[in-house]
Amino acid sequence: MDRLPLISPAFQPFSIGNTNVEKPYILAPMDGISDSPFRLLTRELGSALSYTEFINTMDVVSHSVGYEKRCVFFEAERPVVFQLFDDDPSRLLKASRILYARWKPDIIDVNMGCSVRHVVNRGAGAELLRHPQKIIDIVDGLVKIHSIPITIKIRLGWDALSKNFLEVGKIAQDYGASAITLHARTKEQCFTDPVDLESLALLKQSLQIPVIGNGNIKSIKDANQMFEITKCDAVMIGRAATWNPWIFSGYDENQVPYPLFFVSVKKHLESMKQFHGPEKGCIVFRKFAKKYLQKFFLTTEKITEAITIEDPDQFSEMFFHLIGNKNLYLKHDE
Ligand SMILES: Cc1cc2nc3c(=O)[nH]c(=O)nc-3n(C[C@H](O)[C@H](O)[C@H](O)COP(=O)(O)O)c2cc1C
Repeated sequence: MDRLPLISPAFQPFSIGNTNVEKPYILAPMDGISDSPFRLLTRELGSALSYTEFINTMDVVSHSVGYEKRCVFFEAERPVVFQLFDDDPSRLLKASRILYARWKPDIIDVNMGCSVRHVVNRGAGAELLRHPQKIIDIVDGLVKIHSIPITIKIRLGWDALSKNFLEVGKIAQDYGASAITLHARTKEQCFTDPVDLESLALLKQSLQIPVIGNGNIKSIKDANQMFEITKCDAVMIGRAATWNPWIFSGYDENQVPYPLFFVSVKKHLESMKQFHGPEKGCIVFRKFAKKYLQKFFLTTEKITEAITIEDPDQFSEMFFHLIGNKNLYLKHDE
């Protein structure tokens, strides 16, 4: 008999403005990962909200081709959070109007934590943390022009000597933001070093708006610990969701019942093919396929051979053949 999943007991439902958050875990916005099919999958498995990959608002105002794929979502994904990034507050505000008029997301979030070079070099992402006046202009401006909740996602600060998450959190709250997410590392720490749960706890104690904790959640135990130590309102999960989207249903890696695994993965591939088209869908799915196949007793060579098949029909046939063999599925508690 399968173990019943445990969802963090410290969680209490809460609201971000007028949007109810009924579940404790949220899929993180991830460029190249959190597309509509993956968001739908994780939402159905229990993620509370659907954050888009970050949307470059420069692309929106210049009517670039390509960004719209980031905005498409299934109604079943709602509540949907559009995450925007820019270094120029007025352009970001202009783009937010265009996006809201066309797509009607439930929440608008602004990325103030991205550490990727091409984003910070142009003054966006975590670079905004070094410019509090821009943060004021962005939050104040967005709150004034939109009736939906406005949120921000930040890091602790630029580096160990310039941690200003409390100042930024206070700005966000004072200018009307409805929630804040903290990836509890500095920009300089990128993805290294343990996350700083004490600082996350301090932010939560200092604000009245909801605080979402983020960073290094790999298991239900990690999530419980973040809730218990920091008293944060919800936990955002990024990288671990790419190999274990079932974490949103309360399953740790290698504890996912085979029937649930099979149904979810089948649906994931099918919706990728539908969303991106068969060829691109299979190519984009490869990064997930590799992680899904690693849950089977298969050699690295076999996995590489399977995921590099170019023809979409042959790829699907091989993939389903491999995941169809329950006897090779590595579920450690059986
Ligand atoms: C591949 C990848 C893409 C990411 N893209 C975004 C993004 O578009 N917007 C954002 O706010 N954060 C982005 N992040 C950061 C995550 O949202 C999250 O803050 C970070 O991965 C820490 O959480 P984790 O330890 O659970 O992965 C990205 C992270 C990864 C690994």
